[in-house]
Amino acid sequence: MKFFIDTANLAQIREANEMGVLDGVTTNPSLMAKEGIKGSENCKKHYVEICNIVSGDVSAEVISTNYEGMIKEGEELAKLHPNIVVKVPCIADGIKAIKYFTDKGIRTNCTLVFSPGQALLAAKAGATYVSPFVGRLDDITSDGIELVSKIVDMYTYYGFKTQVLAASIRTTQHIIQCIEAGADVATCPLSAIKGLLNHPLTDIGLAKFLEDYKKVND
Ligand code: G3P
Repeated sequence: MKFFIDTANLAQIREANEMGVLDGVTTNPSLMAKEGIKGSENCKKHYVEICNIVSGDVSAEVISTNYEGMIKEGEELAKLHPNIVVKVPCIADGIKAIKYFTDKGIRTNCTLVFSPGQALLAAKAGATYVSPFVGRLDDITSDGIELVSKIVDMYTYYGFKTQVLAASIRTTQHIIQCIEAGADVATCPLSAIKGLLNHPLTDIGLAKFLEDYKKVND
């Protein structure tokens, strides 16, 4: 399973990249706003900065909600760097735009996916990635991981090439559940990725190794 980091924060992207296990980055308008990035030119500059840090796919989201606007924005974003993936919301004009981008060879990430039916449309339009939102489904007492699993099964059964990119990952446990569900990618906050390292037996074991080493070397 590939790891993407779900942030527009350059320091966190650098830190995850330096761990040597980062495969890409996802952003969205809320994450860009959180970093105080305003205006389309500044957004574009920021996407290029991210692409210069990470050698993997970087999702950049369109703001338009109509077909023409999405095409214009998406084409501009795709020109910024070969690793840019145009992120498009799962609405009717978005599906139409994904089909257009697919035919043009522009890679896409269909976002805000909350049902297998939406994931089916994204795959039929040729999306490179589909992003089911795990945490937001859990928030409404639905089952986000179950959706990931259903989409993986559907794509496997029908042979769709679209990769399942589990998004809205909030915890380390979500990452483990994504592995079990067979997600292709999980896009995660840095804290959840680092959480994978935590195990008390590792800490206890390391302390004992060092203590035993000191006994004979001091
Ligand atoms: O990748 C989508 C993600 O950023 C949404 O996460 O935590 O806002 O539901 P969250």
